[in-house]
Amino acid sequence: MRNAFLLRLLAPVSAVIARQLAQPRGWFGRTVMTRVLNRGNRDLIEATLEGVALGHDSQLLDVGFGGGLLLELAHGRGARELAGVDPSEDAVTRLRRRPEWLPGSRLRLEIGAVESLPLPDTSFDVVASTNTVYFWPDLGRAFRELHRVLRPGGLLTIGFSGAEKLRSFGAITRHGFRFHENGAIVEAASSAGFAGVRVIGLHGRVTEGDYVLRASR
Ligand SMILES: C[S@@+](CC[C@H](N)C(=O)[O-])C[C@H]1O[C@@H](n2cnc3c(N)ncnc32)[C@H](O)[C@@H]1O
Repeated sequence: MRNAFLLRLLAPVSAVIARQLAQPRGWFGRTVMTRVLNRGNRDLIEATLEGVALGHDSQLLDVGFGGGLLLELAHGRGARELAGVDPSEDAVTRLRRRPEWLPGSRLRLEIGAVESLPLPDTSFDVVASTNTVYFWPDLGRAFRELHRVLRPGGLLTIGFSGAEKLRSFGAITRHGFRFHENGAIVEAASSAGFAGVRVIGLHGRVTEGDYVLRASR
């Protein structure tokens, strides 16, 4: 009874947080949410890049980069040809305003969404994405686009919280999150033409209930 009352009281705040997670916006999105994302999602982002071979010439794309931590970590591991796409104009503008952010790299940042990537065919060796599948309107279309922009032999690596974990954060995730089951995600990736699709469960303190999908084109 008391919990139900509290949840009702917090409902407007949860809806605002959910909207900011789905797409950081405005002053709050730019200055607070992007930092919260970089800090809170670090372990999953690191796991998503773990073991991925990155060299100076590797062309890496992060879809839905939010605060940009994955691009920063890839840069720290030597990648210099980097690109990011995010539908949040504020997330894109924030990083475009920092030309010295990833020194010595060629960085392309575009406003766009996974279902229609504003990028040419077969242009990346690695395509990564973390914590975005819950916002993809159409899994099939998303994986076809990811497949299109990867080079033959390129690697897809996607980090996400499983449906069960998302449900446990229902106060927030009931506002617009999509609860894709792992089977549906694997099926969509395979149908889009990806090979060797596999899902690895994570078991860290923060990442319990999270997964990394790996596949190659
Ligand atoms: C929860 S944040 C995750 C940000 C970052 N990848 C991370 O793990 O910290 C979700 C991000 O996905 C982006 N996003 C939302 N819908 C998307 C879509 N259809 N395609 C690509 N990115 C999307 C949002 O703008 C936001 O930056």
